[in-house]
Amino acid sequence: MNIELIKKRLIKISSKERFNHALNVAQVAKDLAIKYGEDKYKAEIAGLLHDCAKDLPEDVLREKIKEFQIELDNMMKKIPKLWHPLVGAEIAKQEFKITDASILRAIRIHSTGAAQMSLLDKIIFLSDKIEPLRDNQGVEEVRAIAENSIDKAVLKLLDRGIQYLIKKGLLIHPLTLEARNNMLMRVVFK
Ligand SMILES: [Fe+2]
Ligand SMILES: [Fe+2]
Repeated sequence: MNIELIKKRLIKISSKERFNHALNVAQVAKDLAIKYGEDKYKAEIAGLLHDCAKDLPEDVLREKIKEFQIELDNMMKKIPKLWHPLVGAEIAKQEFKITDASILRAIRIHSTGAAQMSLLDKIIFLSDKIEPLRDNQGVEEVRAIAENSIDKAVLKLLDRGIQYLIKKGLLIHPLTLEARNNMLMRVVFK
């Protein structure tokens, strides 16, 4: 499916806010892809589709998980916020006819991160959090870091994300800890 067709379909299933976020993530992802040497077309598609399941209510997500036979680990079952990337990757595959495994994976891990993140994974993870509509505290610093090192920017986001979860008393999925350790090994303990 080409980019224009993806946008036409996506706008039908997204809130206005979500669609604007998706367009922004796609643009930032494309720019980062050009900067760091990734396929800009893949980055744009993954950016557009990363939250394609985010507007689904929790009960619908639950149904989709069954329908697509997505296996949730025990912790994932208790963190509904982490379901939309898994369902989104399936929707991207089945309804948007995306067959490229690297795009689907970048969508699938965009909230948790993963132990070994590809360049495309990192680009989507980062773009999601630094796109122009994001104005949370510290986002400028991450944008600046992303100018020089994608690994350092991802590490900063993982650190912040984990600190936030601890402060709120929320569960931290092991994939996020693995992602953080891995990135720390790449950036500091190399
Ligand atoms: Fe998301
Ligand atoms: Fe997002």
